Amino acid sequence: MNIIRTSSYEEMSMQAAKIIIKQVKNNPALTLGLATGSTPIGLYKELINDHHNNGTSYKDVHTINLDEYIGLPKDNPSSYHFFMKHQLFNYIDLPIEQTNVPNGTAEDLERECERYEEKIRQLGGIDLQILGIGQNGHIGFNEPGTSFESRTHIVQLTENTIEVNSRFFNTIDEVPTKSITMGIQTILECKEIILLASGASKAKAIARMINGPVSEEFPASCLKKHPNVTIIADSDALQLV
Ligand code: F6R
Repeated sequence: MNIIRTSSYEEMSMQAAKIIIKQVKNNPALTLGLATGSTPIGLYKELINDHHNNGTSYKDVHTINLDEYIGLPKDNPSSYHFFMKHQLFNYIDLPIEQTNVPNGTAEDLERECERYEEKIRQLGGIDLQILGIGQNGHIGFNEPGTSFESRTHIVQLTENTIEVNSRFFNTIDEVPTKSITMGIQTILECKEIILLASGASKAKAIARMINGPVSEEFPASCLKKHPNVTIIADSDALQLV
């Protein structure tokens, strides 16, 4: 694991943006894996600014998001479809039909999981995947105990995740209890991974990922098995390492 320590959230976002922009320039048809949540918002702002100021183009890029809540329509402001449009897709020249987020309202959710895996295969796999990390070590919505062999699947969210994510909803009762997520095996097959973390609330999880054992009880620990992972984190998130 490479570790890039930054002095602030802004610097973490800039460093991540630099890597993505370089890769898009080298390979304009890059397949880019994306995450939602608070952590990548600054990165997406950097990509938007760079697109406007320097003209980096995403017209041949395809994107694959990690996850989506089950039961939220795409136009629900708390859905990850909505998040991605409003934090990134609407502001760069990426054709919307080249973006992929699991459909949490599909009639047949098992079929949707298979379709998503098939889509990733058709695209030749994910070249570069951006990840955040949950306080309980989840990546995507792969909660503690998820098999390292899992592929895109349906999960029951833990109480911890529901509580932490309730900040994006009016009340905790509105937070869906299930989601679709890319599996651990799907994530491990990405050619390159960048995990972002900021703030003291992530310090324990980051320390356990870096220094703890590889175990399904702590999903992010699987990344130690991957040959090309870079952690970009600020000093608050790295304070226990
Ligand atoms: C989001 C995702 C989650 C988040 C994690 C951290 O697509 O897959 O694993 O990355 O919950 O969320 P934030 O960034 O809000 O702390």
